[in-house]
Amino acid sequence: MNSNGTLAKTTHFITHSRVWKSFFRHAYPDNDLDRALVMNTNFLLHLMPVKVSRHSLKATYSFGLGVISLFLFVELVITGMLLMFYYIPSIERAYSSMLDLQFSVPLGLLFRNMHRWGAHAMVLAVALHMVRVFYTGAYKPPREFNWVIGVVLLLLTLGLSFTGYLLPWDQLSFWAITVGTNIAGAAPLLGNQIRLFLLGGPEVGQAALLRFYVLHIMVLPPVLLAIVSVHLWRVRKDGGLARPEEGKS
Ligand code: HEM
Repeated sequence: MNSNGTLAKTTHFITHSRVWKSFFRHAYPDNDLDRALVMNTNFLLHLMPVKVSRHSLKATYSFGLGVISLFLFVELVITGMLLMFYYIPSIERAYSSMLDLQFSVPLGLLFRNMHRWGAHAMVLAVALHMVRVFYTGAYKPPREFNWVIGVVLLLLTLGLSFTGYLLPWDQLSFWAITVGTNIAGAAPLLGNQIRLFLLGGPEVGQAALLRFYVLHIMVLPPVLLAIVSVHLWRVRKDGGLARPEEGKS
């Protein structure tokens, strides 16, 4: 037998072995069935739909704003974790820890700016995503539940932005949160309780900084992650993105 024959035999032996089949549970994807199996049996690919309508692929339909929001959230989690190595949530040390981070830590300024600008960009992207969903009528049945989940995501995004704003403990943060919590305090009925709950005391001080920090790193991001997962799962269950031909059938 020549070397080509040996190679073919060995390849056949490997691709028909139990080990190979336990990794790749489909044949070569040159037909629709195997292509679908590739998508369904691969952990990363199974997050994508097996079929998409041509209409949803048009860049000008969604402008990718939901995906951009998701990307920014991931970027914020990564840069936020790096900032946590240096930031100290104490009213005596928070501001100086931010200055140290900016001027003494290699790439510190870059990561701080990525976190700050990323946060502004995420608020903008989520708001524009919501406008797009409204403009294309994608909030209508069967997607009305996902619209409600989206509203919760918008509130969580704003909550993250608000709680993060206090952390540098500079004049801008201090007065912005003083004004913000005073506005909350003016709400009818529960206003004062909400203000006290946020600040942990009568004014913006150490208790407020710690509360905002805990909300910002421990509470809101995991809740947002869990709800985003439901949001994306619903997009799939509702048959992918809304499209005009849906209403006609
Ligand atoms: C953290 C915030 C959010 C993230 C990460 C997110 C992510 C996504 C993604 C990736 C999609 C797939 C299509 C696309 O890229 O446009 C999508 C679709 C959708 N989103 Fe969001 N979203 C967020 C907030 C919102 C908000 C605030 C609303 C509305 C109040 C909303 C309502 C919807 C609806 C109804 C769909 C289905 C759209 C269609 O079928 O055309 N989402 N979202």
